[in-house]
Amino acid sequence: MKHSSLLFKNDILTILDQTLLPQKVKYKKISHLKDVYTAIKNLQVRGAPLIGVFAAYGLYVSLNTKTRIKKTEFIRKALHNIDYLKTARPTAVNLSWALTKIQEVILNNKESTVPEIKRLIKKTAERIHRDDVKLCRMIGITGCKLISKNDSILTHCNTGFLATSGNGTALSVIYEAYKKYPKIKVYVDETRPLLQGARLTSWELLSKNIDLRLITDNSAAFLMQKKKITKVIVGADRITSLGFTANKVGTYNLAVLCKHHKIPFYVAAPSSTFDLSISKSKDIPIEERPAKEIKTLANRLIAPKDVKACNPAFDITPPGLITGIITEKGIIYQPSKKNILKILNRI
Ligand code: MRU
Repeated sequence: MKHSSLLFKNDILTILDQTLLPQKVKYKKISHLKDVYTAIKNLQVRGAPLIGVFAAYGLYVSLNTKTRIKKTEFIRKALHNIDYLKTARPTAVNLSWALTKIQEVILNNKESTVPEIKRLIKKTAERIHRDDVKLCRMIGITGCKLISKNDSILTHCNTGFLATSGNGTALSVIYEAYKKYPKIKVYVDETRPLLQGARLTSWELLSKNIDLRLITDNSAAFLMQKKKITKVIVGADRITSLGFTANKVGTYNLAVLCKHHKIPFYVAAPSSTFDLSISKSKDIPIEERPAKEIKTLANRLIAPKDVKACNPAFDITPPGLITGIITEKGIIYQPSKKNILKILNRI
């Protein structure tokens, strides 16, 4: 059976609840604003591109009620819902990017009727969705050129069909390469503390029959030293104009290890993940998540109850450690403002 991270049909929005994977494959309907927010916050829906697409549809369903509403009240409610959803998670720029696109549509069509504004919101959400599917495919095709038949690729977190509404970003490259080289091997690190690698990426790769090894986050250095890993490909949540890249915490560790072991380190991301309004690393907001996520495993306490913990959900890799950023428009080698703009400005 082919699974989808998200479905939108006949105005009904359904998600695959990722917090229950891999034990349970359960789809859930979402129609209220609070549920859209909570699904993002609690990582039932996650991954930078996917939360953008989901928030766009989520906004639409939150406004698509039967109750009659005056236009001024409708616009006020829509702008309020947008602001609220933007605060669900701070690091992935795709969330605010998608919601800002809809905000612009609303503000540019203030003179239209409520049903017409609703129609435009839905149309924009569907376009964001369609584009995401297309961009994922393009990233796969572009990145595939970097892969050779005997590669053993290490990936971090989850960047596949569960993290996007298409085939993924880093995993899209792997899926495309697998069609050509069925012998490629993938190392998947667990990705503590929420285990997106162990729970989600292994599940995805198994469903596609790709040869994989699940490893602890700690064993990457040893496996590199033993020459078991030939490339690392990860996704991104926000990339600044200078190429500073925020991604799941632990990404920076891998980039440093790659430099030491002279292994190519690639980031795969659509142009919607670039935030050209900021340049420096310190400008990226990093989400701090509850200590409970580190102190418990499968709802069981694994640390002293009163210990204080520090749980940044993302880290930032400087451009100097990145061999290339794979985008739908091409590969940005030696990421710098000039090289980023050269590729992103391609039509
Ligand atoms: O906290 P998550 O699971 O949403 O983090 C996801 C990641 O860090 C991914 O690598 C990133 O969003 C890219 S997804 C194509």
